[in-house]
Amino acid sequence: MANKKKNNYVSKDNLGKNVFPKDIILSIKNVSYRYNDAKEDEFALKNVNFNFETGKVYAIRGRSGTGKTTLLSLISGLEKCTEGEVIFDGKSLKNMNLDKYRNSDIGIVFQSYNLLPFMTASENIILSMDANGLKIKNKKEKAIELMRKVGLKETYADRKVLRLSGGEQQRVAIARSLSYNPKIIIADEPTGNLDKQTETEILEIFKKLAHEENKCVIIVTHSQNVCDGVDQIYDLKKVKN
Ligand SMILES: Nc1ncnc2c1ncn2[C@@H]1O[C@H](COP(=O)(O)OP(=O)(O)O)[C@@H](O)[C@H]1O
Ligand SMILES: [Mg+2]
Repeated sequence: MANKKKNNYVSKDNLGKNVFPKDIILSIKNVSYRYNDAKEDEFALKNVNFNFETGKVYAIRGRSGTGKTTLLSLISGLEKCTEGEVIFDGKSLKNMNLDKYRNSDIGIVFQSYNLLPFMTASENIILSMDANGLKIKNKKEKAIELMRKVGLKETYADRKVLRLSGGEQQRVAIARSLSYNPKIIIADEPTGNLDKQTETEILEIFKKLAHEENKCVIIVTHSQNVCDGVDQIYDLKKVKN
């Protein structure tokens, strides 16, 4: 492994697009999870094994109650595996500072956006920079740059979130998740409250982040439309307890 270089070069394909070397950034290894208040043999997840590479968009698909949200809690280090482990960039989360991991390596996007409605779009993004202790000189400029990345014009920066459409709010939430430039973005039903056209637009943003910026994007979804557009689908089945 001595000379293994990681993500430190980018080549171009014959259309001039960036080509990144693929790396496994996240592994779910034999993971089982049982909630504290569940019966001894009642598992929310049982022996799950998934690998995730940089530069790709993944869908995790499964019916309600199959453990999708639970899996995202384990990936984001909010819960600890009952059995097995989550490996990020070659290191088990068991041996990592999870606050630091959450504040730098992983960005989270929710179905209901989780923005502060009475604050402006840029204030919401700056709040996340502050919460994560980012030392950036011109935070507003950075927030506007992130907003552009998700297709929001500068004029939206000073608009209160409650004056934005659902699709626009989700774009702000994605911009916010990018504020500390994480390698992985996880999204729990990010298009669950949106119409199909807007869903497709949001999916295109995630695809751009993966394919042009080498992020690993993991989307939990019910939507066939989303599944049709991702690079790889993983299915979760209900655990038979
Ligand atoms: N806080 C909790 N305490 C106990 N059981 C839970 C809790 N949260 C979820 N569960 C159970 O874990 C299983 C998986 O839930 P969840 O991860 O929310 O599934 P999904 O997101 O796929 O709908 C379900 O059987 C659910 O009832
Ligand atoms: Mg869920």
